[in-house]
Amino acid sequence: MLGYRQLLHKGFWSRAPVALASKQHHSYSLKGSAFHFTTLAATATEEEKKPYYITTPIYYVNAVPHLGHLYTSVLADTIKRYQEVKGNKVVLCTGTDEHGLKIQQAAAKDGLPPQEFCDKVSVKFKELCDVSNVQYTDFIRTTEKRHKLAVAEIWKTLMDKGFIYKGSHEGWYSISDEAFYPATQVTESVDPKTGESFMVAAESGSRVEWTTEENYKFKLPLLRDKLLAWLKENPEVIYPSSRHNEVVTWLENGVSDLSVSRPRSRLDWGISVPNDPEHTIYVWLDALTNYLTVTGYPWTGDQIPTQMKQGGYPADVHIIGKDILRFHAIYWPAFLMAAELPLPKRILSHAHWTMGKQKMSKSRGNVVDPTELIQRVGLDPVRYFLMRDGGITNDGDYTDENIMTRYKKDLAGQLGNLMARSTSKTLNITETIPSVQIPQSLEEVDPRDQALHKALMELPALYEQNLDTFETGRGLSAVFEMIAEANKHFGDNAPWNLVKQPSESARLQTVLRYSYEALRTAGILLQPVMPEKSQILLNKLAVPPSERSFKHSSLGMGWKTSVPLGPDCGVLFPRL
Ligand code: ME8
Ligand code: MG
Repeated sequence: MLGYRQLLHKGFWSRAPVALASKQHHSYSLKGSAFHFTTLAATATEEEKKPYYITTPIYYVNAVPHLGHLYTSVLADTIKRYQEVKGNKVVLCTGTDEHGLKIQQAAAKDGLPPQEFCDKVSVKFKELCDVSNVQYTDFIRTTEKRHKLAVAEIWKTLMDKGFIYKGSHEGWYSISDEAFYPATQVTESVDPKTGESFMVAAESGSRVEWTTEENYKFKLPLLRDKLLAWLKENPEVIYPSSRHNEVVTWLENGVSDLSVSRPRSRLDWGISVPNDPEHTIYVWLDALTNYLTVTGYPWTGDQIPTQMKQGGYPADVHIIGKDILRFHAIYWPAFLMAAELPLPKRILSHAHWTMGKQKMSKSRGNVVDPTELIQRVGLDPVRYFLMRDGGITNDGDYTDENIMTRYKKDLAGQLGNLMARSTSKTLNITETIPSVQIPQSLEEVDPRDQALHKALMELPALYEQNLDTFETGRGLSAVFEMIAEANKHFGDNAPWNLVKQPSESARLQTVLRYSYEALRTAGILLQPVMPEKSQILLNKLAVPPSERSFKHSSLGMGWKTSVPLGPDCGVLFPRL
């Protein structure tokens, strides 16, 4: 039988701390509502924690993906891999949003039946995940049967709980945004070319048209105070805080009943209202429900809490662009509150990639083709660039020049350079990682190594702090500052001179060991962003796969004895 230590060594219990057969009380309740589950944790070996559940938006299939879509997906994948490096089990879901007028019209324009059109475009989003190493657990399409069942279920729940009634609606509708806007939120705009004047939504700039129709409505105002209380009690729900405050302001300004269906005569391509086939469910209620569908909703029977937990529900983080904040931060939690379901823990609402200072979007035509860029620059460099320069709070403007500069300066010039020169056969004749004792306290460190030693000591916590708040750019900047310090250390200590003097062999080993420590730490911390390049780097440095988790990024957690370097791996970032 294996002992405790051996099990630990085998990674048997490495995932999550296991609470021994304790009585768990899950309270998924809103204030004042009685929605409590009591469940027994089955056995000691069963994982106590639910998986960390991450979502991307499900993308519209009206057009093929561009760099903006890739950005959100790579951000989600980076957070996923980061959580895994920290030892957590993760569920990452993405997919495509296929119903609604926008899609119906795009299909008609393409001369295809809507389902065929959706099949054709949805696969492009899936292929983009594959070529960009976005490791999704599930790829959901809203035209799937499991999703239609989930949407019908939530509709019935909202109906039963008295939140939906049949009414009529007059207002400005934007097909592009698939949203109604009140009169206060539209303005007149004139086409500079034709002189034609029309109305647009102030928030998005999209064209709107006046619509009067009978439809079902959701009593959003009933939940306004609860939404405000939720945001107030959980000031970190929406990141960054500027967007959190924006949502609070929207709510404080008041909300009105929300149309949640369209007459079938207007919108045919969608899920029917249960028991009323003359109406089609509003595409945003349909789309948002995907976050439940992928977790196996509707959960049934007396195992609901277990089913919920196994599916990962509720989301640990919904990752979205700022363009769809209202839908995720007001409508979605409102639907969940009304259905008495647990709310997401975080909503990360990032800024946009612009090109020529305009939001990159297919309708404007200012887009970068992600597949072409990956072919030209390489996958990991594209991922690095997106995670380094993509804006969370402020928009980032895309230029070819910027990505090339990152490639040349950071990747080839810093990381690749340190790798090449420190593993060169002329310096490291025996091609081994020298086993050098790294002192624990800074005072014992040779003054010539102190700056790098300090940088290595501080990096993991700094990186963690930034990645925990999704600030990948700051996390990466910290890694590359350390690498820059390591290159400086290398240059200042001139190992090419030390190698010529036998009396300096101990010093040479220390200098090289510090370079390898720098590369090892960078290799571990860069795994979430550049999985392929990190693997090449860590293989060359003979870091065993079992020593690549976050905790191994601490200084001194590396090689305990001298080990041979891995086989030649070529130039990490070749000249383009
Ligand atoms: O809104 N910069 O789908 P969508 C950064 N189907 N991110 C961008 C971007 C840009 N220029 N352009 C797009 C929808 N994105 C709905 C979502 S979810 C239940 C339904 C990313 O195809 C960003 O994440 O218009 C944005 O929120 C999303 O793509 C919008 O994708
Ligand atoms: Mg859009």
